[in-house]
Order: sequence, then structure tokens, then C-alpha cells
Amino acid sequence: MTMTKRYTRLIDRYRERLPLAPNTPAICLGEGNTPLIQLHNMAADVGFDGALYVKYEGLNPTGSFKDRGMTVAVTQAVAEGAKAIICASTGNTSASAAAYAARAGITAFVLIPDGKIAMGKLAQAMIQGARIIQFQGNFDDGMRLVREIAETVPVAIVNSINPYRLHGQKTAAFEIAEQLGQAPDYHCLPVGNAGNISAYWMGYTELHDSGDCAQRPKMHGYQASGSAPFLRGAAVAEPETVATAIRIGNPQSWDLAWAAHDESGGHFAELDDSAILAAQKRLAEREGIFCEPASAASVAGALRDIEAGRIANDSTVVCTLTGHGLKDPDMAIEQGGGVTAIETIAADRTAITRVIEAAL
Ligand code: F0G
Repeated sequence: MTMTKRYTRLIDRYRERLPLAPNTPAICLGEGNTPLIQLHNMAADVGFDGALYVKYEGLNPTGSFKDRGMTVAVTQAVAEGAKAIICASTGNTSASAAAYAARAGITAFVLIPDGKIAMGKLAQAMIQGARIIQFQGNFDDGMRLVREIAETVPVAIVNSINPYRLHGQKTAAFEIAEQLGQAPDYHCLPVGNAGNISAYWMGYTELHDSGDCAQRPKMHGYQASGSAPFLRGAAVAEPETVATAIRIGNPQSWDLAWAAHDESGGHFAELDDSAILAAQKRLAEREGIFCEPASAASVAGALRDIEAGRIANDSTVVCTLTGHGLKDPDMAIEQGGGVTAIETIAADRTAITRVIEAAL
């Protein structure tokens, strides 16, 4: 066996493609390098002859794609002398900011909408020592407040309006192209604040322009019906969806996301909550892959576009699963019928054998 050094840190792997000074010490947790998994069962279910994959970003250190951007943003913030970072968040950004701030020995202030973040995400921010500021309002209010506060208080914003976040996140496109040996024909994503779809497009475009990839994918972005400003053509004042990660009415990367749509010949669509939850359940039941509800919007949308012929039947499709299912245990248990759906029986061999035999 020949030993070759394999980078486990995204910044080491892609440093020449990131806007960091050469010797900037990296704040890392071993992010990136996530699996690309082919969905054989679900593709067969809809008669799809192409190749349908998920990029399982829930396997990043804090369980979401945010770590790719956070490692770069926090590395740069620390290099610039920041002692504190701040973000508004539907949950995952706050969990990631908390982790990287802990690693760097600085403070993370995280603004979260009152009662609207999933328990797993809150648990992470709490145990990793973030200063949690829960406010009465939604993500969009939090985003506005963060922008205002950072004008007068010495805190570095680590939301995706920070360009270093997008540069970190674009590395997922690099990995996919390496994993497939080329860019896919279609790339499907859930869209909230619209940073991620913009980052992927940046990544694919860089590969294309440097001659590393002959093609760029068509970018398909999916919003939840109750939080679908791109489909309404204007900000949504009171966004609602069970997919709390994308409960966003005023995406900050509006123009970049539309540029990705227009330049790629892409497609934006909305999905109602029931379609999102059905896809989350199907992924778990048919493929053994557990993602949080917002993530499942990518697969729900892709399957619908395959069935509608909007995605060609012989194509290569990648869907990003943005966050791990354990982020939102309440929703998973509800999908399973609630804890009361589980019957408790005696610790008795005959009784348990009877249950098993009835199910075989
Ligand atoms: N999926 C998950 C699991 C997310 O947490 C987010 C965004 C998105 C999709 C949408 O990505 O905003 O780049 O379009 N979560 C942010 C947060 C807003 O605060 O954690 P986007």
C-alpha cells in the first residue's frame, strides 16, 4: 500500500482557489470531503434512466454545509484580528459559527428567531458556548439587525453576505466534479437566503473558466411555498414552512441566485410542505439517508422535474442534502407518528418473537 497524504481540511485542499493569504493559519474541523451517493432505488421508482446522486452535506463536522463557508470566513476574520463574530440564523449557521468560534477561541453571537429553530441546532449552539440572542421576529429581521449592529460594534458578520462564506461553499462544486469526473447536467438545491446556490454556481463557473470542466450544470433551486420570494417576484413578509432552515422571505443573495438561474438555463420552483416531508421520509425509507426537511426539497424538486420531463431522462443529476436529519429530531419523530406510536411490551421472549414473526 502506498501512502499518499490526503487532506482532511478544505482550506488545505483548495487553498489556491480561495482568497486567503498564503500563510493564514486555518481554523478547521475537517470539513468537506462529503460522500456523493447514488439513489438507485428512488431513481428506479420514477423510471429514471440517468444517474441521480445526493451530495450528503449533513456529514460535515457540525452536520450541515455551513461548515465549508464558516472555516474560510472564521479563518479570515481571525486573520483580520476579530475577537467576535455575529450571525442571524435559522439554526445551522449558528451551530457552525459556534463551533468555529470555539475552535478559534473567540466569541460567537447568534441571533435566532424566537422558537423557530430545530432542537439539534439549538443544542449545538448552546453546548459550544455561543452567546445566543433569541429575538421576536424572523430570520429576515435578524439579518437586518446584524447588518446594523456590525456598523457600530466590533463583530465580524459570518452570514453568507460575507464573501468568504461563498468561497468556502463553492468547494462543494469542486468535489462533485472530482467525484463524477465532470460537472453534472443538473444541480438541485433548496434555497433560503440563496447563498449556497450562488456559491455552487461560482464554483462550477471557476472550473469551467479554468478549463477543468467542459460544462456547467443547469441550476435548479427550490423554495417552500410559504417562503418563496423567488416565485412571487418580491420579498415575502411573513415566511412560513415546516422546513425552518429555509423559512426566509428576503434572500440576501437575490441577484447572484438569479444570475445562476439565468446563466445556467436553470429553473426555480416551489414545493409545499407535504411534498418536502414526503421526500424526507422517502429518502430515509428507500435509501437509508436521513436529512433535515429543508434538504429534502432538493430531491422532492428533482423527482418532480424528472417526472415532468423538465430534467432529461438520461442525465446526471446532483441534489445537495444540506443538513443532517438529526438536526430536527422533533420532525423526524412526528413523521414516524409521534413517540406514542411506539408500543411498549414485556421483556419476554415469546411476546417479542410474536411481534417479529407477525412482521416477517
Ligand atoms: N438547507 C439548510 C439545511 C439550511 O440550513 C439552509 C440555510 C439552506 C438549506 C438554504 O441555504 O440560505 O444558502 O440558500 N440556512 C441558513 C442558516 C439561513 O441560518 O442556517 P441558503
